[in-house]
Amino acid sequence: MLLFALLFFSLVAQACSASQPTTHPHQPQQQKTEQYTKHIFILAGQSNMAGRGGVVNDTVTGIATWDGVVPPECRPNPSILRLSADLTWIEAREPLHADIDAKKTNGIGPGMAFAKAILVANRSGASGVIGLVPCAVGGTNITQWARGSFLYNQMIRRAKAALNNGGTIRALLWYQGESDTANREDAKSYKNRVETFFGDVRLDLQSPALPIIQVALASGEEAAFIEIVREAQLGVDFLNVRTVDAKGLPLEPDGLHLTTPAQVRLGQMLAAAYLQFLPSSSTTGTSDAPRTLSNFVSNLVIFLLLKICSITIS
Ligand SMILES: *[C@@H]1O[C@H](CO)[C@@H](O)[C@H](O)[C@H]1NC(C)=O
Ligand SMILES: *[C@@H]1O[C@H](CO)[C@@H](O)[C@H](O)[C@H]1NC(C)=O
Ligand SMILES: *[C@@H]1O[C@H](CO)[C@@H](O)[C@H](O)[C@H]1NC(C)=O
Repeated sequence: MLLFALLFFSLVAQACSASQPTTHPHQPQQQKTEQYTKHIFILAGQSNMAGRGGVVNDTVTGIATWDGVVPPECRPNPSILRLSADLTWIEAREPLHADIDAKKTNGIGPGMAFAKAILVANRSGASGVIGLVPCAVGGTNITQWARGSFLYNQMIRRAKAALNNGGTIRALLWYQGESDTANREDAKSYKNRVETFFGDVRLDLQSPALPIIQVALASGEEAAFIEIVREAQLGVDFLNVRTVDAKGLPLEPDGLHLTTPAQVRLGQMLAAAYLQFLPSSSTTGTSDAPRTLSNFVSNLVIFLLLKICSITIS
């Protein structure tokens, strides 16, 4: 009831201010336009999401450096933004996680190739913007991502900040689990833990059907336990959760990290999985159906309130 009262009040306020264009010229209009064009994706997990493609260790000094090679699929594009560590939108460029996984040497991850593939697929070429929200941190286990943890809270805070200037969170891209392959117990607990995590994220982002695309592991610590985690990942049976399988993609000499070409391929696989959520002709998600209905209803209400306002004002 209170909710309805609040909703009604805000709609009246909105409608009345909309009817007085001199006080807030065009403002509601602009916000509305932005809301439909920024497609936000959260990137989370551990090192292979943060990106280690092209990172090599100097065998003498032991220092890790990135070779700086950025393939065409990962080059900057004015339509691809990233949310920086200080919560501002800037043009995205590799390494995407440099200021997030700041204690490590970052290289190429799947994010840019993903975004580029989404843009290319949207043949209409309309003025959509991709907003990437990097959150991944190398070496982290699933327990460190549990609700209430530092990493979890930071991800939710960044996701909410990403919405400040309008836009819609389209999906969570999740690549994690290598750190849960060191022993049987953790590997066996993975399914429960990751499912709880997915449920919590949807709850805290108030998006119960948020598309989640996870990556089934290509690598890890103990072969036997990698298989247990992979089975857990391939067995997650939640609405709107898709799994792309990284097994077999080329790895760096460390046997843990995807190479740059592997990351490009993975980004394109993630994009293909995401595009399957959508009606064939656009990247505006199926999750828009309820939004469209509620937009229609609120437009109708605003229309009626405008009538009331104009009567009371004149
Ligand atoms: C895709 O095109 C539609 C219009 O055809 C546009 O509304 C949307 O923002 C575009 N998406 C991207 C990611 O560019
Ligand atoms: C996860 O990582 C943290 C920090 O390194 C560690 O304390 C904890 O024991 C790990 N938990 C599991 C279940 O592996
Ligand atoms: C570099 O060395 C670190 C520490 O030994 C290791 O974790 C990492 O996987 C290595 N990376 C590569 C690309 O060899």
